Amino acid sequence: MHQEIADFLPWDVNLEQILITTGSQLALVLIGKVFLDKDSRMLVEKPTYLGALQAFTPMEPIAVGVDSDDEGMLVEDFAAKVGTGADKARMAYVLPNFRTHRSHHERGTPPGPGGKGQGTGHPPD
Ligand SMILES: Cc1ncc(COP(=O)(O)O)c(C=O)c1O
Repeated sequence: MHQEIADFLPWDVNLEQILITTGSQLALVLIGKVFLDKDSRMLVEKPTYLGALQAFTPMEPIAVGVDSDDEGMLVEDFAAKVGTGADKARMAYVLPNFRTHRSHHERGTPPGPGGKGQGTGHPPD
């Protein structure tokens, strides 16, 4: 399974660098523990995956929503919200695939492939 994941990734990776978790929530909690402390600024797409916001909650970050479209975060809004100095964002949580964007709801079309993208969270600006 490690080899299959390595083959899937578009960059070189050592098999020892791949950690298999029991689900996305555990992976997100572990990622949050590495990058976030209390009051760390964290940029997320707006809207984003509610389960991710819940997984990061124990680290008590400050989630800042970045305006997004079907291709992800808008660069200008990212730059405006990334912060400076000690307040600079420690992490950005982005969804390169399986994105749920409000346009799906507006168009009434189903979310991304595989039926993913259920449940959105609406972080503050
Ligand atoms: C962006 C995103 N990540 C993770 C998940 C959950 O994935 P899994 O059920 O494989 O843990 C979802 C489910 O909708 C999702 O939309």
